[in-house]
Order: sequence, then structure tokens, then C-alpha cells
Amino acid sequence: MYGLLLFFHLTGLSIWLGSLVAVIVMLTMMKKHIASPEIGQLAQKTVKIFNFLTHPSSFVVLISGVLLIVDMGLIRSAKPFWMHYMEEVGGMFILLFIVLLSILGKKLVVKLTAGDQLDIRSGMARYLSGMMVSVVCVLSVVFIVAVKL
Ligand code: HEM
Repeated sequence: MYGLLLFFHLTGLSIWLGSLVAVIVMLTMMKKHIASPEIGQLAQKTVKIFNFLTHPSSFVVLISGVLLIVDMGLIRSAKPFWMHYMEEVGGMFILLFIVLLSILGKKLVVKLTAGDQLDIRSGMARYLSGMMVSVVCVLSVVFIVAVKL
């Protein structure tokens, strides 16, 4: 069971981080040409597909992490710092970024539909910043887990 749960945990993490980085690169490239209606539509589709992929995969990381703790019998026992950090800070990041990126993504889609260029640019900048912050936060968890502080 441990192996299967770790597989889900790491697969969820790969899809989560991978799609964050991919969408940051794609939207950054689209930003310059966002006045074109075709690019605007493509940006809308990208945000919608991203929401469909990223939030479920980050949720898989959370659920498989909780099940791993239960499977390993670690619910009440003493844990090293890296595991506390992953469980508490990592879990908080997951919930925080699901909420934050959903709100920013929905606002951006509304602005893209309305078509006001100034609004679109500010929405894009906020959405991209939110995603960059989330990548840095997730990587901080990966670092703490990798060096096993
Ligand atoms: C940002 C969120 C998270 C990241 C980046 C992350 C990353 C990782 C990584 C890279 C591993 C493999 C470590 C290894 O095998 O040496 C791992 C294992 C594990 N994760 Fe997470 N994780 C996150 C969230 C969580 C949460 C929320 C929980 C629990 C509620 C959790 C519980 C676990 C457990 C129990 C293991 C197995 C540890 C072991 O085999 O010793 N993780 N995680």
C-alpha cells in the first residue's frame, strides 16, 4: 500500500508542478499578443484546462499524503521536522493555492471575455504572480523534504 500511495503522491506532485511551470511559460508568451482575439481565446482555454488539471492533482498530493501518514502509523508518533513541514506547511500551501488560483483564474477569464486590454494585462500579471509564488512555495517543500532537515 505504501508504494502505491507514494506513487500517487509523487505523480500528483509532478503534474501539479509541471502544469504550473508550463502555464507560466505559455501565458508569459501570450501576454505580448493578448490584444489579438485568437490569443485571448487561447489564453482563456489555457486557464480553464489548467484549473481542470492542477487543482485535482494538488488535491491528490494532499489526500495521498494523509493516507501515507495513516499507513505508516505516524498519526500520533514523533516526526522529524521535514515531515512536519511537508504535512502542515505543504498541506496549507495546497489549500491556499487551490483557493487563490481559482479566484484569480476566474477573474482573468471574466476579463478576457469582456475584452478590456488594461484589465486583461493587470489580471494576467496577478495570475502569473500567484502562480510564480506557488511554484517557489512548493519547491521550498521539495527542498526541505530532499535534504530531510
Ligand atoms: C507541497 C506539498 C508536498 C510536497 C512537495 C511533498 C513532497 C514529497 C516528496 C518529494 C516525498 C518523497 C520523499 C521520500 O521518499 O524521501 C513525499 C513523501 C511523503 N509525503 Fe509529501 N509532499 C507534500 C505534501 C504532503 C502532505 C500534505 C502530507 C501529509 C498530510 C505528506 C505526507 C508524506 C508522507 C507520509 C511521505 C512518505 C515519507 C517517507 O516515506 O518517509 N506530503 N512527499
